[in-house]
This record gives sequence, C-alpha cells and structure tokens, in this order.
Amino acid sequence: MANPIIQVRGLRKVYRVGHEQVVALSQIDFDVPAGQVCCIVGTSGSGKSTLLNQLAGLEKPTKGQVIIGGHNISVFSENRLALFRQKNIGFIFQSYNLMPSMTALENVSLPLIFRGISKQKRERAAKRILAEVGLGGRMRHTPAQMSGGQQQRVGIARAFVARPKIIFADEPTGNLDSKTTVEVMRMMIRLCHESNQTLIIVTHDPNLARYADRIITILDGSIVSDMPNQSIAYDESEPETKAEEAEGAQTAGDESPHDADDIDDTDNTGDAEQPQRGAADTVTDGKAGEKAMETPGSTEAPNPAEMEKEGKSE
Ligand SMILES: Nc1ncnc2c1ncn2[C@@H]1O[C@H](COP(=O)(O)OP(=O)(O)OP(=O)(O)O)[C@@H](O)[C@H]1O
Ligand SMILES: [Mg+2]
Repeated sequence: MANPIIQVRGLRKVYRVGHEQVVALSQIDFDVPAGQVCCIVGTSGSGKSTLLNQLAGLEKPTKGQVIIGGHNISVFSENRLALFRQKNIGFIFQSYNLMPSMTALENVSLPLIFRGISKQKRERAAKRILAEVGLGGRMRHTPAQMSGGQQQRVGIARAFVARPKIIFADEPTGNLDSKTTVEVMRMMIRLCHESNQTLIIVTHDPNLARYADRIITILDGSIVSDMPNQSIAYDESEPETKAEEAEGAQTAGDESPHDADDIDDTDNTGDAEQPQRGAADTVTDGKAGEKAMETPGSTEAPNPAEMEKEGKSE
C-alpha cells in the first residue's frame, strides 16, 4: 500500500477486571493510506472504541504497535503522546464533548491554542470553518443553545480547524436523526477531501459505512472483513442541506476560504519527535507573549480527547 499514514501491527488489548481478563482486541493488522475514509464497523462490544483508542494513542496496547507517519506511538510517553495528538489528530465524539460554558467560536478555537496560534488568527480560522459547516449564524451560541446536529457541526469544526493529518470519529452520528446524519457524514468527508486528511470512523451502523472508501468489520476483537467501498458521499441525489450553509456564507461572507497558511504547516509528525520545542514554535506572527499560556499541558482548557479518555482504565 502506497504511503500508509497508519500502520497497525499485531495489536492486542487485554483489560483486566479483578481476576477476569477481557480480550478486547486480538491480532489486528492493517494499514491506512493518507486521505482514506475508513469505517470500522461492528456490533456493540466488538472492540471498535478500544481499537480507536489504541490508534489515537489514548490507551496503550497490551501487545503490538500503532505506527503513525512512521512513528511507533505505542512506545511514546504520555506527555509525548499528548503533544502528538494535539499536533496531528482530531477527534469527533458521539456526545460532542464541547465545553459547555464556551461559545461555538471559543470551542472551535480551542485546538489552535494548543498549537500556539495567535488569538486573531484563531478567531479567523474558527469563523471560517464554522461558516463552512453552516454555523455562521451561531458563533456566539453555547452548546445548550444549539440543536444536537448543530453541536456536532461545532464538534466537526473543532476537529478540522487545525487541519490534523488524521481525524478519529467514534459514532459521530449516534445522537442524530437520519437527515442530520447524512449532512454530518457528507460534511466530514468533504472537509477531509479538501485537505487530503485521513478519517477513521467507528460505528455499529452499516448504513454509515456506505459513506466510507473502505469498510473494516470487527467481531469479538478481530477483523473479519476488510473491503474497498464505493462511497455514497459523492452521490448528488443526497445533497447536504444548503439552507444553513447559505446562512453561514452570509454571516462570514467576507472571510476567505479556510486556509492552511493560518496554522502550523510544518511537518507535524517530525515536530512530534521534539516535544520540547512546544507548540508556540509554530506562531508565525511573532506574538511570543502567548507562549506561556499555550505550552501544552499548561492551559486550563482540556483537550477533547483527554476528556473522553477520563473513565477509561487499563
Ligand atoms: N476499560 C475497560 N475495562 C474493561 N473492559 C473493557 C474496557 N473497555 C472496554 N472493555 C471491554 O472490551 C470489549 C470491547 O469494548 P468496546 O468499548 O471497544 O466495544 P464497542 O465495539 O465500542 O461497543 P459499542 O458499540 O457498544 O460502543 C467489551 O467486551 C468491553 O466490555
Ligand atoms: Mg464504542
């Protein structure tokens, strides 16, 4: 396979609960090429979330390796993993995991803080992508003031705003109705294709898998099928909702298209090899004064992935 961005080798995950052992994953091997939309499907308890957690470095495998961009993240320290995630990975969750006291704009700006982007540039990039997901008119709303579908659009905007190489989505449409599910799936895939980002979606819903370029099915912690798929995401007979997009375009119509120049365009994977450099190295307008608050780990706002991680134990 040409240029795999993710390589999984002999992955095994065993949870110990008292004297019991749960083999959640066993002998998982696959590669994902950059830019692929890959769906991992399976019934409840088959190991989907466990697999996603290992791929994203949220949990350590019991055995085996997860190699991202050539780096074996399974041997990274927790600090190095946290920095690696901040620079290279975006997350979308079933329950959105937005910060309840923050507006849509503030929630979407959050990942850019970790990357040391100046406030002005953060706001500009967040506004652009919120407009792109049709929320130009909801920027100042808090999560409680938005519908589930709107909250998930904020979640999508937050995952994509820093242009991470890989986006992981765990049941991203699990709380949405069927019409909103179509909108959200198409939106995620469109954003991915715009920047050749890799999207890994896990779901129990075979209908969702139809949107992917590839469908991996797992059962009892093992891959039982791995097939290419002709995605329906590009089928014009199922258009994304245009009304809200038009609303967004009006509100933020003066913004130029979402542009990678605004954010870290260095080799993120390479940077992750040197965690001491800190995200502030990526500031391009010389606002070094923001460096102190933006050093990973020192900010008050938690990374959404860290929020999801809480409650999971090995
Ligand atoms: N932290 C944990 N401790 C112990 N067992 C766990 C833990 N997390 C998951 N498991 C077990 O591992 C197996 C796989 O769980 P996982 O959450 O990956 O399933 P899933 O496919 O995501 O299911 P669902 O569709 O319900 O979300 C299950 O048997 C589950 O009970
Ligand atoms: Mg799950």
